[in-house]
Parts: sequence; structure tokens; C-alpha cells
Amino acid sequence: MSDYALLGRQLAALLDERDPLTNGAQTCALLMQEIPDLNWVGFYLQRRPQTLVLGPFQGKPACTPIPFSQGVCGAAARSRTTQRIDDVHAVADHIACDSASRAELVVPIIHDGEVWGVLDLDSPRLGRFTPEDQAGIEALVAIFQAHTDLEHLMNKPG
Ligand code: SME
Repeated sequence: MSDYALLGRQLAALLDERDPLTNGAQTCALLMQEIPDLNWVGFYLQRRPQTLVLGPFQGKPACTPIPFSQGVCGAAARSRTTQRIDDVHAVADHIACDSASRAELVVPIIHDGEVWGVLDLDSPRLGRFTPEDQAGIEALVAIFQAHTDLEHLMNKPG
């Protein structure tokens, strides 16, 4: 079980720029290094209306763009709630970017009442993400948000 309080302190210390690209890249690198059994970590950003476009990530090249209507990432953006999936093969519209992925956790990132993007974590291990992992990753996303000027990469409706 990861020590999310420690990870939170490490992340806060690492995010000394307010730039979303820099901080997004640093966040992915820290999580990939420190959280066991991950094969992919990355951000998708709402760069066009109702569409998630690949942002900073670690892992294999990934699928992009993802409409809000599709996949686990789309479900997180649409519902604005974290999606914690024990077995991605059981999700009919799961988008398989890396065939090694078996479990997935996607946390929506809301800024100024809009979906800014999502943070997506994939694991090759079935049932990898517990409710404790979910709470821990959601807390890390809150730290990322507190240290980052998200409006620099915000899709403006209209
Ligand atoms: N599996 C995701 C797509 C993104 S990749 O996992 C990197 C989905 O179903 O939305």
C-alpha cells in the first residue's frame, strides 16, 4: 500500500512551477516511479469541447482524442466522478490503448465549473486499485490543482 501522505508531500515539493505542462509531466513521472504495478499514467485535457486530448504522460504511446461519450476516461469526464475499474475487459466501451492494462483508475479534474481534464492510471494487475488508492490519488490530484494555473490550458466554451 502506497504512503499517499508522503507522496503528497513529495508532489507538493516537486511542483515549483505553476505551469500545467511542467507540473503535469512531473506528476506523471513521480507516480510512475513511486506507485507499484502501473504500466501507464497520464493526463487527458479537454482541449476541444467534450473531447479529451492526450497531455503529459508516462508509458506507451496512447489513444487520442477520446470523446466524452467513450471509454472509461469519457465516463469520468461525463459523470465528473472517479471511475475505479477492477477489470477493464468487463467494461464494454473500454478503450484499449495498451493490451497489458487490466485495471484502471480515472479521476476527473474540475476547474471553474468545467472539466479541465482527467488523470488516468492503468495497471496490468486485476483489481489493482483499492478504495484507499482512489482516495490517495484524488488527494494527489487536489495537490496538483492547488499548485497549478490550470486556466493556461483551459478550453473556453464558445
Ligand atoms: N482506457 C482508457 C483510454 C486511455 S488509456 O488507458 C491510456 C479508456 O477506456 O478511456
